Amino acid sequence: MNARGPAVSRGQRLAGRFTPPGDKSITHRAVLFGLLAAGETVIHGPNAGEDCANSLAAAGALGARVGRGSGTWTLRGAGGSLRAPDATIDCGNSGTAMRLLAGIAAGQPFATGLAGDASLSRRPMARIVAPLRAMGARIETAPGERPPLRITGGSLTGRAHVLEIPSAQVATSVLLAGLRASGVTSVEIPGPARDHTERMLPAFGVGLEIETRANGGRRVAVRGGASLRAAAVQVAGDFSAAAFLFVAAACEPGASVTATGVSLNPTRTGLLDVLEAMGADVRIERAHEAAGEPVGDVTVTGPESLRPFDVPAAWVPRLVDEVPAWAVLASAARGTSRLCDAAELRVKESDRLAAMARGLGGCGIAVRERSDGLEVTGGQAHGARIAAELDHRIVMAFAALGARTPDPMRFDDVATVATSFPGFFRVLASLGASVEDAA
Ligand code: S3P
Repeated sequence: MNARGPAVSRGQRLAGRFTPPGDKSITHRAVLFGLLAAGETVIHGPNAGEDCANSLAAAGALGARVGRGSGTWTLRGAGGSLRAPDATIDCGNSGTAMRLLAGIAAGQPFATGLAGDASLSRRPMARIVAPLRAMGARIETAPGERPPLRITGGSLTGRAHVLEIPSAQVATSVLLAGLRASGVTSVEIPGPARDHTERMLPAFGVGLEIETRANGGRRVAVRGGASLRAAAVQVAGDFSAAAFLFVAAACEPGASVTATGVSLNPTRTGLLDVLEAMGADVRIERAHEAAGEPVGDVTVTGPESLRPFDVPAAWVPRLVDEVPAWAVLASAARGTSRLCDAAELRVKESDRLAAMARGLGGCGIAVRERSDGLEVTGGQAHGARIAAELDHRIVMAFAALGARTPDPMRFDDVATVATSFPGFFRVLASLGASVEDAA
């Protein structure tokens, strides 16, 4: 296969400011809550990548009237009366879209088909299928409880669910079904999974009961039958998108980049703690709130040298999407850094532990793949050709690594970056990396 898309190598020392795309998790929720609400929901600064665009199209297929301006999306919600979709809904590459839509479809008295691309078609759905079936939904799947899904919903019964993994997607799916179930639906989340659902649902008029646990876990309960009312949502910048550029700066002594208006939700910012523990300078300015979420401008400056650091297992849920970026950071440290208790990374858009181990090894970095983590020993990396694996975060992680390799980092395909951060390569070039079109 020929290398396609930009080739990235060391250019100038990284410096400057950038505005990350809108947060993907927040945008999915604003779109899908807007579908369920009566009235017009306005979403300012949505993530306009393909994943959230698929959610918006799904909302249209289920009865919302959707409008897509530059910088603002609107939805006239279907309220209590969603419509049966004419065709199978394409969730593309997005596990969040599929799992959240499954929770909505479970409460509707018609059949909804949900399908996705080759990556999504490999991802496990038992984690949502089992609790939604237990509430009364009929769900057909491909073998192994994989997509595509066909969900025939209707009269659901509220239940108390206990999750085995701290997954916000599963918790949200179950709570969305709970909105249409009889009685109370609750979910016990065994760790600090992202809490955007809990922060946003009250703005749409839904009261939740939340009990927090000492380990950052929580029990969230909703009473069925609540009506959602439209809301205006200002979407904060996506920390997980900015993370690749933070790491690229942290790996280069004196490099310094600032992300403006980025979400600082504490369930998402574990990487900042790791950056500080490894010796990078992290500065937060203009801290404020938007739509119930903490936001600020974050500047990361690379130290003379990075210390190795073993990520405590309890931090993993707070950096679950930043593991590819973390591995690149660890590859620049003076020594060996470890991450464990992260087997969940094997069922993301790709098997991210395997993809990072393979890719870093190909770039000359010593790395050991464990069943539930990685061990990375810092060193001088060189360019290589990276298999994108239909995974945006794998491409962006190796592009961040390319920003410090003397020879080019190439990719078999970079199209997947458009799922979450369409302008990524332009931003990387504007900060100083050498980004050239490769034939
Ligand atoms: C997400 C939750 C996380 C995360 C994903 C987005 C969400 O997945 O990895 O990118 O928006 O709820 P899990 O809930 O499976 O941990």
